Amino acid sequence: MRIDIVTALPDIVEEPLRHSIVGRAQSKGALAVHVHDVRDYATDKHRQIDDYPFGGGAGMVLKPEPLVRCVEAITAAAGAPDAVIYLTPDGERLQQPRVNHLSTHEHLILLCGHYKGIDQRVRDTVVTLEVSIGDYVLSGGELPALVLVDAVARLQPGVLGDASSALTDSFQDGLLDAPAYTRPASFRGHDVPAVLRSGDHARIDAWRDAQRLEKTRARRPDLLDD
Ligand code: ADE
Repeated sequence: MRIDIVTALPDIVEEPLRHSIVGRAQSKGALAVHVHDVRDYATDKHRQIDDYPFGGGAGMVLKPEPLVRCVEAITAAAGAPDAVIYLTPDGERLQQPRVNHLSTHEHLILLCGHYKGIDQRVRDTVVTLEVSIGDYVLSGGELPALVLVDAVARLQPGVLGDASSALTDSFQDGLLDAPAYTRPASFRGHDVPAVLRSGDHARIDAWRDAQRLEKTRARRPDLLDD
């Protein structure tokens, strides 16, 4: 899978991409992430990428030309993407089924806006999907882009050590995950539930299922409605 991130702040995204699962996905060849500085595609001599909003108001808006030129350069080099995704608080709220579907694509372009966002004409003509990572406002799309990259990277074949572990994640079947314990068996007077040390896998599975249901009912009853 190839992901291109278009941003005015490449430093924010570059370092996190080198570590953990996303880093491993890239060294295994399952994922290639390319980061593009939108300023490199500015058309004027001051390399201006944003401007005042028509109609007035606070905040700057990312200009259309550099963003579109950058997307065109990526498309010329790597072919047309499966989706051009704009990260924005007014997009579709990201949930696991969407992540699963995106993880099957071969090529995504992610556009990061900042402050007042990007010119609407880019959204109308180039963007194919708008994604929000939650009902709160961040100062730019860079952290949301990293969230999306992480969520799809860990689903690429061969990336997680244990192929079944992604399938048992919270949300994969609409339930939250069961509690997890490791050694020591007793920690400051708190013991690991005996069933987990019983070696009886049918009982362990039944216990985990019951825990998942109970936790989901307590914390996220809306998931059970779905
Ligand atoms: N940009 C700013 N806030 C955001 C959010 N919550 N989700 C996606 N992109 C954003």
